[in-house]
Amino acid sequence: MKKIVALLLCTILVASLTSCGLFAGGKGEVDIGIVLPTKDEPRWLQDEARFKEIIKDTDYKVEVLFSQGSPETERTNVETLITRGIDVLIICPHDAAQAAAAVEKAREAGVKVISYDRLITGTEAVDYYVTFDSISVGEAMGQYLVDNATGTGNPLYLYAGALTDNNSFLFFEGAWNKLQPKVKDGTFVIKNSSEAVALQDKATLTRDEMSKIIGQVTTDWNFNVAKSKAEAHLTAVTAADKGKCYILAPNDGTARSIADVFAADADVSGYFITGQDAEKASVQYIIDGKQSMTVFKDTRTLASDAMAMAIEIIKGNTPSTDAEYDNGKIKVPSKQTPVVVVTKDNVKKELIDSGYYKASDFEGLE
Ligand code: BGC
Repeated sequence: MKKIVALLLCTILVASLTSCGLFAGGKGEVDIGIVLPTKDEPRWLQDEARFKEIIKDTDYKVEVLFSQGSPETERTNVETLITRGIDVLIICPHDAAQAAAAVEKAREAGVKVISYDRLITGTEAVDYYVTFDSISVGEAMGQYLVDNATGTGNPLYLYAGALTDNNSFLFFEGAWNKLQPKVKDGTFVIKNSSEAVALQDKATLTRDEMSKIIGQVTTDWNFNVAKSKAEAHLTAVTAADKGKCYILAPNDGTARSIADVFAADADVSGYFITGQDAEKASVQYIIDGKQSMTVFKDTRTLASDAMAMAIEIIKGNTPSTDAEYDNGKIKVPSKQTPVVVVTKDNVKKELIDSGYYKASDFEGLE
């Protein structure tokens, strides 16, 4: 009898310690805080869903907050999580530079910071970076356009991500690596950026030079900005600048907007357009022949790498890294994940057979 009572008491003790966090490794209400940039870009809903799947099976207490494109909300989110006692902050910044102040607060409070997908720049307060290989994302896009171009004089339209996102530079750098030699040899003619034309003989661009081009062709990661820019570009050129068009679109959301504009123009006889993220809506566009490719970044891997890293840190271990990214202040130890190009030909294998999406999510998938 005594034994049973002791066992019962023990169980109650363990349960209460776990619920107040003492057994789960953390010191407060929450062990790991996750801050994502916005719910308005489908990419981050994918990441949230992946984190939620992992959280279900972990003993650690995790909270996910969204910043809705506001550096102020982002800072408040970080402060809230610090107050709740987090040990590790996983943060994908809305604005790379402005997020520095928030993570400096985290560091002052003894919290380890993992920059997630987007690097926070200009601060020493970033301990690790978990990311896809973003230069290779841009290279995959550029290479796709190159592989589908024949002859010379093919019209090339360039678009980029937000200037406040460090990734926009990495994607553009990768794309430029592949496209610039083919602009130089006459395969492509850039139609929508005087800044890019002015720099088209340069194989490697400085950050300032990239800023000039990106500043001109940025979508701000916003569907409406992408749409109105594409409309303005097609209005500004003549029918001879259209025909079969080659379009560097920086991600899936903006690709769909830009593709719709090009598809509606009577002088556009066809187009090749890039994208990234394998968003469901773009997978459907690829099946329907309205978007040519996407770069699949498996958010299952990124989210689980970030969580595994956070848990290693809580356990007092040094997480393993395989790359370094310069954030303008320090070289941040990084873990990098490769990406996969998806077209109509391999969409089933990469996205359905791999269990990422269900076949029933799409129409017309053979
Ligand atoms: C991410 C992309 C995403 C874009 C817009 C980038 O930093 O790497 O996957 O499409 O932001 O949210």
